[in-house]
Amino acid sequence: MKFFIDTANLEQIKEAQAMGILDGVTTNPSLMAKEGITGAENILQHYKDICELVDGDVSAEVISTDFEGMVKEGEALAALNPQIVVKLPMIADGVKACKYFSDKGIKTNMTLIFSAGQALLAAKAGATYMSPFIGRLDDISTDGLGLIAEIRLIYDNYGFDTQILAASVRHTMHIMDCAKIGADVMTGPLSAIKGLLKHPLTDIGLAKFLADYKKGN
Ligand code: G3P
Repeated sequence: MKFFIDTANLEQIKEAQAMGILDGVTTNPSLMAKEGITGAENILQHYKDICELVDGDVSAEVISTDFEGMVKEGEALAALNPQIVVKLPMIADGVKACKYFSDKGIKTNMTLIFSAGQALLAAKAGATYMSPFIGRLDDISTDGLGLIAEIRLIYDNYGFDTQILAASVRHTMHIMDCAKIGADVMTGPLSAIKGLLKHPLTDIGLAKFLADYKKGN
């Protein structure tokens, strides 16, 4: 399972990268705005800065909602760095743009996926990744993890190689549940990733090892 961090915060990206377990980064316009990154030039520069920090794929989202606009924006984003993955919304023009980029060998991430039907379309369009938003489904009392399981079944039925990128991951158990179901990738906050470290018996055991070492030395 690949681990992506879902943030535009450079410090958090650096911290996750330093842990040695990071496979990539996902961003979206809201995450950029949260970091105070506004204006086309600054946003492009920020993507470049993120690519400098990590080795893996970096999803960069288009703002256009029409095919021509998405192609123009996506091409400019892809030209920034080979690590860039063009992130496209799950609307008709987004699917068309996804097929356009797939045919050109440019990596894509279809975003705002909330149903298995949308996931099927993303795979048919040749998306590299597709992002079901599990937390937002949970927010409206719908089974986000159930959607991941449905998509896994459909993709396995037909051998689609589009990667299921579980997004809108909110906490550590989401990561574990996605891993059990077989999501290819999860993208989540640093706090959820670091939560995987925690176990009280690890802390107790380590404290005892260190105390026993001290006794003997
Ligand atoms: O990867 C998508 C993600 O950024 C959305 O997360 O927490 O805003 O639903 P959230």
